[in-house]
Amino acid sequence: PTYQVGYFVGSLSSKSINRILSKALIRVAPDDLEFTEIPIGNLPLYSPDYDGHFPPEAVAFKAAIAASDAVLFVTPEYNRSIPGALKNAIDWASRPGGENSFDHIPAAVIGASKGPIGTALAQQSLRAVLGYCNARQMTAPEAYIQYSPELFAPDGTITAERTEVFLTNFMAEFREHIERVLTVLPRQ
Ligand code: FNR
Repeated sequence: PTYQVGYFVGSLSSKSINRILSKALIRVAPDDLEFTEIPIGNLPLYSPDYDGHFPPEAVAFKAAIAASDAVLFVTPEYNRSIPGALKNAIDWASRPGGENSFDHIPAAVIGASKGPIGTALAQQSLRAVLGYCNARQMTAPEAYIQYSPELFAPDGTITAERTEVFLTNFMAEFREHIERVLTVLPRQ
């Protein structure tokens, strides 16, 4: 089968290194994964006042997750956690009560930073949130990418061999994770 992977880029920056990383990941992914970006930048700030009458942006956002077999989070670290825009998007996905879009969905997290921690603390924070949302996370391998322009071209071409090997393995493992989760519990 072909698996549909919806991916979130946690940065709204036009120069995002995490967007470059997302392009690199798609380049090295197994052929039977198909990728669709699920944008987060057009969502209003979530409020429970919207429950029962979600705006069209949020309805489309939840429909895009429902159409995905799995989700991939590619995010920067902001102040040792995830950017507010990404947390806001996750909050939308999790509501209204009883309609949590992430329930049982296969998921993976990865991120790039210019600093040496490579988004490790953002990923820990994100993993806690996704755990509560009952997503089925790939726990290994982990991937903390210290970005440097020598590793990637802006179009996502990977220019360092060890990075290419590492990211190719990460995506191959994600594909296996998706298959294992969906074998036990297929998506409707
Ligand atoms: C950062 N940055 C950052 N980096 C990091 O490694 N740990 C951190 O806690 C933070 N905190 C932080 C907060 C805010 C508000 C900004 C704007 C930036 C730096 C960050 O890693 C860098 O800007 C990356 O380029 C962000 O990723 P994108 O947007 O390029 O994908």
